[in-house]
Amino acid sequence: MLLPFSVDRLRLLEVAVFLGVAYFFLHFSRINDDTSGLIVDAGTIELPEERRALIREAFRYGWEGYLTNAFPHDTLSPLSNTHTDDRSGWGATAVDALTAAILMEIPEAVGTSLNYIPRINWNIVSYEGMAIFGSTIRYMGAMLSAYDLLTTTHKHLVSEESTAKVEALLTQSQALADALSPSFGTVRGINSNFLNWTSGAVTWNGFNDITAISGLVLEWTRLSDMTGNREYADLVARSMEPILDPEPQHPSIYPGLYPKRLDLDTGVFNVNDTGGWSHAGGGLYEMFLKLSIYDLERFGSYRTKWIEAADSTMKNLASHPRHRPDLTFLADFQENVLLYQQDSSGMFAAASFILGGTVTGKKRFINFGLQLVNTYVEIYDATRTGIGPESIGWVPVTCDTGEETREEVCQVPDSFGDQEDSGFVERAGYYITNPNYLLRPEVLESLYYAYRATKDEAYRDLSWKIVNNIIKWCKAGSAFAELEDVNAKIKIGSSKGRRDWMSSYVLTEVFMYAYIIHLDDAPWQLRSDGNMEWIFSTQAHPLKVKKTQEQ
Ligand SMILES: *[C@@H]1O[C@H](CO)[C@@H](O)[C@H](O)[C@H]1NC(C)=O
Ligand SMILES: *[C@@H]1O[C@H](CO)[C@@H](O)[C@H](O)[C@H]1NC(C)=O
Repeated sequence: MLLPFSVDRLRLLEVAVFLGVAYFFLHFSRINDDTSGLIVDAGTIELPEERRALIREAFRYGWEGYLTNAFPHDTLSPLSNTHTDDRSGWGATAVDALTAAILMEIPEAVGTSLNYIPRINWNIVSYEGMAIFGSTIRYMGAMLSAYDLLTTTHKHLVSEESTAKVEALLTQSQALADALSPSFGTVRGINSNFLNWTSGAVTWNGFNDITAISGLVLEWTRLSDMTGNREYADLVARSMEPILDPEPQHPSIYPGLYPKRLDLDTGVFNVNDTGGWSHAGGGLYEMFLKLSIYDLERFGSYRTKWIEAADSTMKNLASHPRHRPDLTFLADFQENVLLYQQDSSGMFAAASFILGGTVTGKKRFINFGLQLVNTYVEIYDATRTGIGPESIGWVPVTCDTGEETREEVCQVPDSFGDQEDSGFVERAGYYITNPNYLLRPEVLESLYYAYRATKDEAYRDLSWKIVNNIIKWCKAGSAFAELEDVNAKIKIGSSKGRRDWMSSYVLTEVFMYAYIIHLDDAPWQLRSDGNMEWIFSTQAHPLKVKKTQEQ
């Protein structure tokens, strides 16, 4: 009121311009009401260091959500801000995320985990039935890897007072192995993947799968090599015998490929079971290859087995869908027929082919792996969120050539008919059989291998685009949440359409692979010349290979 009229008008004009600019920014440059700055227009950020900075912030956001609402419990439920002890209650997320925190160089997260780990008491469990494979890849894998990293390439993250805590990574790994060892107590020493803490019973349903059996070998062997105590390597070697020398001699009609499960007492394969690269079936092939890289002297025969499985997969399981013959899916099998289905946990197959092609120098494996990666990207691209579903099915082109004659697999099942009617199947080449997104990392993992083997920047761009879609659609509540339906119309930031769960591997793998694809070469990275010094475990924890250890 005291100001002259003209100044007042000037101020009004300023305010109006300010409001206009603010409105423009709020409405157009920021998407929705995201105040964390994590949801951006991905296309505008190209520099690797800028991309890394944002992914690092996304990791920190998820980590803070976990620390505030769930630490030191296993798993955060980000929508209700509660927690679950579904991994024996030893703080799965706090341990599993350690190596990602190291590779992203986040000292405060590294410090929190290092302070916590020595305090874990493996003799106190949240429920009686312990899962051996899950505990090995999450807890033991993370601790051994963190030890390898913090005593070599990432020493600078260890302060003087935390030296003893680094040593505890090794003693705690050994204590965990000692606690889990009774699970090898079956008739033939095959690991049961189950241990009743109260009764000591090691049987669950009388079967174990080839992924859970072979999935222990890298960590338990590495533990023996690090501690000089052969006991752990011997246990897993004995447990592998029925897979290396199978009964029946050819457990499936596809050379080098196995049904998923075998009998725990007799070691005999359940020849009626399904096989392939999907859940619980494909991990064996991953381990054949990775163990041969870890120590070719000891696991040379595994290399041969991987090559046989890989060639057989290309010849027998590769399948192109009707409408989209440019895509390559991997079918499962049961007895002598193919099942035209694929799940997202099997989408590390591309990574395995590229890694195998890199270390064997065989181009056909790299080319096939890249064909698979490109297909994964197309699977993601076809949905509303740009994220792929948990599982899919398809009608193969062989239905049109007459090679596939089963009528029931040559049409989209009635229950998914709406996807055919809407034109989705014709456009995408597949139909969605489970629409969830469980925050799986396998596609980002495969893109990581594709980039490091070829150094083609296109793979970095694809990884960046996908991780931005994950941040955009899954950021909800206090961290990141799974999606109900990747092809639904959902609102950014809402808890509607989200599942109240953030598995530990979101921090360990999703953000880690999206981050390290944008880093330069380093000793622990995949080397494009195939001369690996480190190998990533199935849970994305890098371990030093044996030959580097001995040097
Ligand atoms: C473990 O064993 C105890 C004692 O026999 C039994 O009561 C309990 O149900 C078992 N728990 C599981 C998860 O098998
Ligand atoms: C496997 O399948 C065959 C024929 O399909 C059947 O006779 C046999 O009982 C099945 N075995 C098991 C363990 O299911």
